[in-house]
Amino acid sequence: MPTMTNECTAVTTSAKWITKKRTMAETGVKPKPVAQTAAALIQVTTFANPVTKKMMMGGTGLALIAFLFIHLLGNLSLFAGSGGLNTYAQFLHTMPVVVWVFRFVIALMFILHVWYAIQVTIENRTARPVDYACRSYQKSTLISRSMIWTGLIVAGFLIYHLLHFTLQSLYPDTSAAVLRDSLGRPDVYRMVVLGFQNTLSSLFYLTGLLALAFHLSHGIHSALQTFGLATQRTLPIKIRAAFIIAGMLFFAYTSIPISIFVGAVK
Ligand code: HEM
Repeated sequence: MPTMTNECTAVTTSAKWITKKRTMAETGVKPKPVAQTAAALIQVTTFANPVTKKMMMGGTGLALIAFLFIHLLGNLSLFAGSGGLNTYAQFLHTMPVVVWVFRFVIALMFILHVWYAIQVTIENRTARPVDYACRSYQKSTLISRSMIWTGLIVAGFLIYHLLHFTLQSLYPDTSAAVLRDSLGRPDVYRMVVLGFQNTLSSLFYLTGLLALAFHLSHGIHSALQTFGLATQRTLPIKIRAAFIIAGMLFFAYTSIPISIFVGAVK
């Protein structure tokens, strides 16, 4: 049995995982065949142990959050009018190498994050919940149990978003590739404004951003715990901080479609 300690870090995550497996073997409880096959598949396709997987998931998640802040700063230039957002977009397109390296890193982080998240979820579901190394750390909430679902909604949102604004293939007539501003530049500002004047599109964004907020509110403090940056004493503060960061990102991002939808930005 793992001992109860105040400092619950990634090491206890490993202990919990081993305990779950051991208890299952002792009690003869067998995971479902589908889960068993999936777990076996994971074992032959990866060398990482459970702790490394959680660290990969947490580390890539934190890198993606850094991207969210950078992306938000660029997007908020929309409130400076068409000059603001179009100048920002034009500036990005003057450094294609930097943009492509950045895109490659973000895509890699995203793929690794999803890959390890699926593995961790399957592994957790192959084991029945048993005694925990650190009970207060293990309290599961609706948000924590829904991480895989909110993550999948965010992934769906992202596909839509990239088709909409980056590849511009969803609404080609109102794409920045077609529209030009007064300086003859691709009119990213008008593309975004026309995009969010569409009710369905705005609702879709709000749903995606809400799922993202739920996902982050658990993901941030969970990642801090994985890296041993939250002790039992500081955990409540970290949980509150994670809620505040997720909430701030939610309100800042949704301010864009909402301002456009209500006509405050035209
Ligand atoms: C209302 C909120 C948002 C707006 C107005 C917005 C706007 C944009 C625009 C205009 C682009 C195209 C940039 C260009 O190619 O010049 C873009 C790209 C992108 N957005 Fe968003 N975005 C929003 C939210 C998000 C969120 C929440 C995520 C992540 C979950 C995200 C991830 C991305 C990614 C990965 C790209 C591709 C970046 C690239 O091609 O370099 N966006 N966004």
